[in-house]
Amino acid sequence: MLITIDGPAAAGKGTLAGKLAAKYGLAYFDTGMVYRAVGLEMLLNKKNLSDTDAAIRYARELTFPRMMELSQNPEFRSLAGSKAASVVASIPDVRKALLQMQQDFSKNPIFADGSPACGAIYDGRDTGTVVCPLAEIKLFVTASPEVRAKRRYNEYLQKGLDADYTEVLEQTVARDKNDFSRESSHPAKDAVIFDTSDLSIEEVFAKACEIIENRKKTLEK
Ligand code: DC
Repeated sequence: MLITIDGPAAAGKGTLAGKLAAKYGLAYFDTGMVYRAVGLEMLLNKKNLSDTDAAIRYARELTFPRMMELSQNPEFRSLAGSKAASVVASIPDVRKALLQMQQDFSKNPIFADGSPACGAIYDGRDTGTVVCPLAEIKLFVTASPEVRAKRRYNEYLQKGLDADYTEVLEQTVARDKNDFSRESSHPAKDAVIFDTSDLSIEEVFAKACEIIENRKKTLEK
């Protein structure tokens, strides 16, 4: 089984994907990690974010183990890391270079401990349109910019990172503009769209399970 969860930044895709992966015994691929890895290579190597050639080179050189190694760096999910990821993600050749690695995972999905899984759940804004266009189940999760900024702000605080709500909101709006200028960031035609602004994590999870069970019944017919 292949499930994709698309949607804007901080809409709750990751939390939902993790819970669904546990419930359905699926391997989980957080595709934002590939862009964060390239963004972090730029920061670690002191490259200017406008250096498109360097970003493309890091994207072509990126391997799954290197991405996992970079994900341990505290800057991986920091504000600077998020900005760098958003910038490199807007470069078409970077996206092209990172596509194969993301698609390969669905052919051989593995859990975090390296053991094989019988399916995968992908989280990322173009997973239903570009990365896994043939996925059986596609969800598009969204929420208002204010709600998403609040969620991201709380995440930073929980991690002990320095953050300012207004700055996080501004960054959320800027990232939406950057990310949604791409056709691939819009919902897939066969995606189920739901707004999580007024829902708790448990309510979002229950609704997603309901959608998946209905879709499974349709597929079994
Ligand atoms: O989901 P995230 O915040 O970790 O994503 C980091 C950046 O990568 C964000 O700016 C959106 C971008 N991204 C993307 O363009 N396509 C994806 N499939 C996943 C993330």
